[in-house]
Amino acid sequence: MITEVKKEKLFIDGEWIESAKKQEVYNKYTGELYAVISVADEKIVDRAIEAAIEAFKQTTFAPEYRYTVLMKVASLLMERKQELAEIIANEGGKPITDALVEVARSAATFQIAADEAKKLVGEIIPNYNVQGRFLYTVKKPVGVVAAITPFNFPLNLVVHKVAPALAAGNPVIIKPASETPSLAIRLCELLEEAGVPKGFVQCVIGGGRTVGEQLLQDERIAHYTFTGSPGVGKHIQKTIGLRKATLELGSNSATIVHHDADIDKAAQKLAKMSFAHAGQICISVQRIFVHQEIEQAFMEKFLSEVKKLKVGNPLNPETNVGPMINEKEAERVEQWIEEAKTDGAAILTGGSREKNIFEPTVLTNVKKGMKVLDEELFAPVVSVTTYCKLEEAIDLVNDSKYGLQAGIYTADLTISYKIPYLLDVGGVVINDTCCYRTDQMPYGGVKESGNGKEGPAYAIQELVETVTVVVNLEG
Ligand code: SIN
Repeated sequence: MITEVKKEKLFIDGEWIESAKKQEVYNKYTGELYAVISVADEKIVDRAIEAAIEAFKQTTFAPEYRYTVLMKVASLLMERKQELAEIIANEGGKPITDALVEVARSAATFQIAADEAKKLVGEIIPNYNVQGRFLYTVKKPVGVVAAITPFNFPLNLVVHKVAPALAAGNPVIIKPASETPSLAIRLCELLEEAGVPKGFVQCVIGGGRTVGEQLLQDERIAHYTFTGSPGVGKHIQKTIGLRKATLELGSNSATIVHHDADIDKAAQKLAKMSFAHAGQICISVQRIFVHQEIEQAFMEKFLSEVKKLKVGNPLNPETNVGPMINEKEAERVEQWIEEAKTDGAAILTGGSREKNIFEPTVLTNVKKGMKVLDEELFAPVVSVTTYCKLEEAIDLVNDSKYGLQAGIYTADLTISYKIPYLLDVGGVVINDTCCYRTDQMPYGGVKESGNGKEGPAYAIQELVETVTVVVNLEG
């Protein structure tokens, strides 16, 4: 079935504008033209920044009104759940069942942020040794926020940036991934319908680096919030100087399966979460470390679960693994696997691809120095390695330039208590995989996985300035 090609405009200063320059977006499964999008030029980006500054200066976006707007968007998202999920499936290649979950999560993220808008308070500072002074703090919005978002959660990772920015009272300019821009545009429509003040939300789209670069160079922007690769994250931090950024970067996340684990549960969940959204999730399971005593039992169950996964059309509710974002990425993964094979790695299942569809692939005999182990794969490929002692597994997890999340399956409460202190990551998941996230939790990594936390309550703290107030009671 040929779907009608959508024509998308930009949302700038409360108006929908069409630009002369256009960008084409393709359906990631069929390869058909899916949408033609207006692309921002320098003047449009400048107008957006100007409008955001004016809105921030002129508009009272009071916390109780922020709450109302954010809650309204949450209900609009749920009303249009099916339509939005289909866009995620067509434009991003995510299986429809996962896309529906993403929309529901986006609504929850708005609700959580709405609650936080009401809780933004400062504190009274105890006065130890100074007479006649009363000290307290207030939290004020930082100013214009630029949100640079990735393709893999084209709705919820936009929401994770937009909702806290608005909850804190900041105008936000969204620059969505050029592979999946339509959801950010739909979100602007919903925000407009919910009554967001003019200039508080805008969307500028531009492939290549020009739009992003202009946003980074413009000193009127107070804060950047970005999800993407460490290379781009470092470039952002270098370019913006002393201004602040929240950076959610990559990972090669790991899960340990200890000898006392529930093998069936671990194998089933790991088979699902190593390949969810074709591995294109920052916390996707890329490395599994299994205790040698249970290797055989685990591998039998794990491989049989992996072989059950259905690969194909994201619109089919039975599909577990859809296409990768483009063929170039699939070729890169193929190349990395070839290199690993040359160095001694073996494929236990999968390994082949058709255009941008990559079979769920399990590798073994991997070692340090192989890209499939050391770099972020962002593909439906996982490796399994055995260990003898828990200390060895911990060292293996930590032997990475990344540190986003890690998981461990174990029945031992003492290990569960100690291990968060021993793993160099931003989040530890006990008796589940590293690929677990619920939207209210603090989410963000260490090392090359970035800095700052998402999750509305935590993101908001990065988007407000704490102002200290000293009152001279004698003056
Ligand atoms: C990510 O890829 O960082 C987002 C994961 C999620 O929200 O589940």
